[in-house]
Amino acid sequence: MIDSYGRKIEYLRLSITDLCNLRCKYCMGEDGVCKKDHNGILSIEDMTTIAKVFHDKGVKKLRVTGGEPLVRKGFDTLARNLGEIGFDTLAVTTNGILLPKYAQTLLECGFSRVNISLDSLDNQVYCSVTRGGDLALALKGIEVAKDTFDKVKVNAVLMKGINDNQIESFAEFGANMGVEVRFIELMPFESSLDFARGKFISTDEVVSGLNLTFVGEEGNCRTYQFADGKKVGFIAPKSHKFCPSCNRVRVTADGKLLNCLHENCEYDLTPFLADETTLSNRIDQVIKRKPLCHNIYEKDAQTRPMSNIGG
Ligand code: 5AD
Ligand code: SF4
Repeated sequence: MIDSYGRKIEYLRLSITDLCNLRCKYCMGEDGVCKKDHNGILSIEDMTTIAKVFHDKGVKKLRVTGGEPLVRKGFDTLARNLGEIGFDTLAVTTNGILLPKYAQTLLECGFSRVNISLDSLDNQVYCSVTRGGDLALALKGIEVAKDTFDKVKVNAVLMKGINDNQIESFAEFGANMGVEVRFIELMPFESSLDFARGKFISTDEVVSGLNLTFVGEEGNCRTYQFADGKKVGFIAPKSHKFCPSCNRVRVTADGKLLNCLHENCEYDLTPFLADETTLSNRIDQVIKRKPLCHNIYEKDAQTRPMSNIGG
């Protein structure tokens, strides 16, 4: 699949539920996912069809996201179905809590990349940001992941006054655990604007404040190192836009195709699910409208909550 700017679309991020066993403040409001908004969620069969059609159209990598994907009812079945489709790379983004239960299933189904969200190494801060999460459970999940998969990454959302003083501890944690740690710039979502106010700090500011040395760039992640060699990655959708090389699209748990995380534009796939050719044509039409670049921070925040889009 090629969009109208010549970018090859090879990466699908499929959100399989908007529910979560945590309620991170930058992701959702205090009440979590409102029951009245939680409807129209696709069946396991429909999700499988969507994944298959994208694969047939040339998508090579599929990442399963949420909400928290591992709380999805029927996750085992879906993971097996996705495993049978034949993607080059199957990946998952999770908060890690349920990994002790599901790591083996993921491995058996062909998942090779696991990203775990962890925003603080301090139990109180972790508990506060996640509204009640237990750091020990997330750490256990990371350990199990490390023992099961070759490629484990830890993602932290960079927040001023919350974890911007923990960059070095995270780098050390990464070195000790043998996992890559990356900080992601805080992005504005309408569901969490109050929380996000005043907490944005650019990765450039952090990097220059800590006197880090640039060591390399892979995909949208820039890696830096401390004087003693410990490394940490930064993903900066604001200060270093990666739109020109964007190769991804997203499908939400309720079957909407999103060309860009930061565009308030969504294309319903549900009326086209009955027939794979019709669905495929619809996807072609939508991809043609993928914007060249996002303009977050200059315009309105994404109105769909992150928990409904997937990270
Ligand atoms: N800004 C940046 N990243 C976010 N995520 C969720 N909400 C935000 C936000 N407002 C990311 C988290 C998590 C993934 C599910 O999505 O890092 O890893
Ligand atoms: Fe759940 Fe992830 Fe959102 Fe946190 S960021 S509430 S773990 S979906």
